[in-house]
Amino acid sequence: MKITVVGAGAVGASCAEYIAIKNFASEVVLLDIKEGFAEGKAMDLMQTATLNGFDTKITGVTNDYSATAGSHICVITSGIPRKPGMTREELIGINAGIVQNVAAALIEQSPETILVVVSNPMDTMTYLAHKVTGLPKNRIIGMGGTLDSARFKYRLAEALGAPSSDIDGMVIGGHSDTGMIPLTRLATRSSVPVSAFLSSERLDQVREATKVGGATLTKLLGTSAWYAPGAAVSSLVQSIACDQKKMMPCSTLLSGEYGLDDICIGVPVILGRNGIEEIVELELDDNERAHLAESAEGVRKTNDLLA
Ligand code: LAC
Repeated sequence: MKITVVGAGAVGASCAEYIAIKNFASEVVLLDIKEGFAEGKAMDLMQTATLNGFDTKITGVTNDYSATAGSHICVITSGIPRKPGMTREELIGINAGIVQNVAAALIEQSPETILVVVSNPMDTMTYLAHKVTGLPKNRIIGMGGTLDSARFKYRLAEALGAPSSDIDGMVIGGHSDTGMIPLTRLATRSSVPVSAFLSSERLDQVREATKVGGATLTKLLGTSAWYAPGAAVSSLVQSIACDQKKMMPCSTLLSGEYGLDDICIGVPVILGRNGIEEIVELELDDNERAHLAESAEGVRKTNDLLA
């Protein structure tokens, strides 16, 4: 199983590291436009192999797409990250051009690949990848909801004073500060709804902290986060590579599901060997449905900037 990660910045390198440490891929190709950068990151990571106990071969290349040929899965992390105070949507001008070129170059080398889009604004970049490549909808996946759900579970564990392993929960909607919809109604601690333990005011705080999860980190770090984004990509990639059929919220092209059409937005999907094998339609309540419609409006506004 060969996996390509484009962009050897913090997110791309973390992603390659977690994929390697989980030891399910034979090969990871890390590609960057900056001369020698991916080669350096790959060599540094390979020198952790005997320490961390993995056999995945990581190769770094400078803009040489021929090295990515025959990849089963390609992850696009390229583009600029946000700076403190910036929204993900503000990155569109620069990142759209980059994602468009990267997606086309990857497909040329690996026509059968599954694309995972991480670059922001992620839902719009996923939509753009569809427009550029014309791939079937099961083969383009936007990574956002998996990360946002991990941040939601972190905030729930914090509020409950509970270990993370007790917590389950999901965030759907757009991957933006206003678009995320943490589904507190369905979140549980060991199968018990979290509302049995937390007041609605406390749940509101959890929801708000989750939605600005990326912005909070950007402010602290001076650039956007990488450990949780890298880990979220690697778990999604593993579900595909190992045909695990895990259910995760991902940005996917909708054609009528949830009453939405011609838009990529986060909803739960089943991830297996064929990429998105099923879109799971949850029974949302009126409030959640209204939030999803509002979130979709936000994503469409950003999509309109592509024209
Ligand atoms: C974040 C970026 C990856 O949420 O969108 O950290």
